[in-house]
Amino acid sequence: MLTVNFLGFKLNCPLTTASGTFGYGECYQDFFDVNELGILTTKGITLEPRSGNPQPRLAEVTGGIINAIGLENSGFDQFVSDIVPTFKAFKIPVMVNLNGKTIEEYQTLAAAINKIKVIAFVELNISCPNVKAGGILFGTDLELTRKVVRAVRAVLPDKKLIVKLSPAVSDIKKFALICEEEKADGISLINTIPAMQINYQTGKPTLGNIIGGLSGPCIKPIAVRMVYEVASVVKIPIIGIGGVSCYEDVLEFMMAGASVVGIGTSIFRSPEMITEIKRKLKEYCIANNLNSIEEIIGLAQPRRKDYE
Ligand SMILES: Cc1cc2nc3c(=O)[nH]c(=O)nc-3n(C[C@H](O)[C@H](O)[C@H](O)COP(=O)(O)O)c2cc1C
Repeated sequence: MLTVNFLGFKLNCPLTTASGTFGYGECYQDFFDVNELGILTTKGITLEPRSGNPQPRLAEVTGGIINAIGLENSGFDQFVSDIVPTFKAFKIPVMVNLNGKTIEEYQTLAAAINKIKVIAFVELNISCPNVKAGGILFGTDLELTRKVVRAVRAVLPDKKLIVKLSPAVSDIKKFALICEEEKADGISLINTIPAMQINYQTGKPTLGNIIGGLSGPCIKPIAVRMVYEVASVVKIPIIGIGGVSCYEDVLEFMMAGASVVGIGTSIFRSPEMITEIKRKLKEYCIANNLNSIEEIIGLAQPRRKDYE
């Protein structure tokens, strides 16, 4: 009832984790079986180790958090030696989130990942600053988006490529269409929204990095709008992410056009929520006489030519 066909994979359910909120699958083992997910999405990796941004890196705001972790991770070599072997324990497909400072860095990582059998999907995080272009985010510039997706696709023939879009753009549809043109297999959205908090007692920004990324329930209506807009123009499948905290949110994203839904910040508050959401989704299917949850994908979209 909850199985979903996604790019040739039959997923247990339409749920995944949002990158950076679930480690590499080891964090929540005490709360539920990771194999209950549809896809395991890992914390982002980079070519070289990164120590991340200065502390403090998290600020709590109404309905969410602002984070400026700065992609702290131990780098690709350690990922291969310490983390990749642990993936064998999972029965579900693993999606690895990639980040780079230059197009060459993304390409080197992607070429190396292409050879690792146990990884099924690559999620390309394009909300990273391009050092060679003066720090402009890859995912906020149409030409840079095209170049990075093209470069990665060229060296990643054996993996499904999902491009994760940045919401910090005025017309997200254009970015999605470029990814589709450059032969991405799917799109995930949204990443966090640039935001900041000021401590009124000190008069200073809370975060060491000053600006961070907003996530959690407060961003959900923006994310739903963007998934809806993207689903109205592309034919490739979508992973909807942003503020999901209950089964109703999952339904909303799927009705907007997502085939899979990612859960991030809310899992910090309630790690048991995956089991609970699955139970409620099943009840919803039964109550609404659905044979499969897939029947609701894109329900909110006006009839599209390619659906007819
Ligand atoms: C602490 C933290 C770390 C994150 N790290 C990454 C990352 O490494 N790569 C990435 O593409 N997105 C990262 N994200 C963004 C999430 O994957 C997700 O797109 C965003 O938080 C919105 O979903 P949510 O509201 O359910 O958290 C991170 C988010 C948080 C809160």
